[in-house]
Amino acid sequence: MWGGRFAEGPAAVMREINASIPFDKRLWQQDLAGSRAHVRMLAKQGIVTGPDSSAILAGLDRIEGEYIANGVNEDLALEDIHMATEHRLAELIGPAAGRLHTARSRNDQVATDFRLWVRDAIDAVDAGLASLQKALVARAGDHADAVMPGFTHLQVAQPVTLGHHLMAYYEMIRRDRSRFQDARARLNECPLGSAALAGTGFPIDRHATAAELGFARPTDNSLDSVSDRDFALDYLMAATQCSLHLSRLAEEFVIWASQPYGFVSLPDAYSTGSSIMPQKRNPDAAELVRGHSGRIAGAMISLTMTMKGLPLAYSKDMQDDKPPVFEAHDLLALSIAAMTGMVETTSFVTAKMRAAAEAGFSTATDLADWLVRVAGIPFREAHHITGTVVRLAERHNSALVDLPLEKLREIDERIDGRVFEALSIDASVASRSSHGGTAPQQVRARIADARKALGMD
Ligand code: ARG
Repeated sequence: MWGGRFAEGPAAVMREINASIPFDKRLWQQDLAGSRAHVRMLAKQGIVTGPDSSAILAGLDRIEGEYIANGVNEDLALEDIHMATEHRLAELIGPAAGRLHTARSRNDQVATDFRLWVRDAIDAVDAGLASLQKALVARAGDHADAVMPGFTHLQVAQPVTLGHHLMAYYEMIRRDRSRFQDARARLNECPLGSAALAGTGFPIDRHATAAELGFARPTDNSLDSVSDRDFALDYLMAATQCSLHLSRLAEEFVIWASQPYGFVSLPDAYSTGSSIMPQKRNPDAAELVRGHSGRIAGAMISLTMTMKGLPLAYSKDMQDDKPPVFEAHDLLALSIAAMTGMVETTSFVTAKMRAAAEAGFSTATDLADWLVRVAGIPFREAHHITGTVVRLAERHNSALVDLPLEKLREIDERIDGRVFEALSIDASVASRSSHGGTAPQQVRARIADARKALGMD
């Protein structure tokens, strides 16, 4: 395709290092879409004749059928998906194939294809994340008032509800979806027609190709158009942040499934056994989601390092943009699907969660708050009194709510029998009724908002 000024062919190793077809074959659909839009525009503008453009379009249709039936021909000599398709077109329709590349370069071609691919990837991720949110919201609805310990430092802190905990992840995913949508909006400008770097003298219509490919508008600077990979980095950064959330949820499942916790029983469908220990039910899917997040972050760093310091405009380094994006996308899509399945099918052992919430003096803050509210004691002093009560309870191996009133009054005589109402874990969660708090009534309200936003009702 470019051999005119060369006397000799490339060395085998040159061919190998240069070729991107083993991975950029994934762009074949986008490449065909871009070529179709381009040739239609060329014909409309009178740059190629009607018969030539019809022959090209018919050839592209045949190639599409061949790719669907047999996959893309991965001959390294054809270098990349753009050349492979054009080469096949020439075999099919002869010299008219050579007119397709008028007013186009592989630089604007690949920039366009890759934007289209990332746009599709964003749409697929968004659909997956919506399903994950629906699963979280549905399970939160089932457990809006199931009390569990809330943790800080992984130490029992205050009682919360399982519904509240699951809805925390709904919020993270809501932000992820909005980050992907931001990325999509910025991505949605069409570089096609920027040609190699400087634009073209042919009377092309960039608005027409942009519109046909579903872009909001053409890009405004040809140099930037062929050297910009921000859209791929935006995708990777959003994917990284999303995968952090999936990894945190996965980690909670790993902890909750461990025997000392026993908060969940993972379904067979998302667990594995051990080849030596017959009793094992390992949370491998959750662990792989946790592991994959590291690889996704690695992909983001990989492209960041590729782009750092590249002068305008195109450099071949930029061919390395695709493997990290493809890898991250595959890992993210799989992680989203696995987490969705786990959220949908895990059984929550709410009795264990409840017992753990009872066990860790989790209503100590409620006692301090009661001393402030009912007995009028300043919070710092109430905190100190409560600490003494906790020490007593620890000594007697008793829950706060089971301590005898006389013992409490020995510590501070302003305490009276009404205090016990504040010390139950149900009373504790019910009292946390500020907006966004863990009170079941608040959690239900947030679930109702979420169901509406997700069109679940
Ligand atoms: N396979 C190339 C890539 O992915 C296409 C662009 C080639 N452009 C060039 N000037 N050699 O980056």
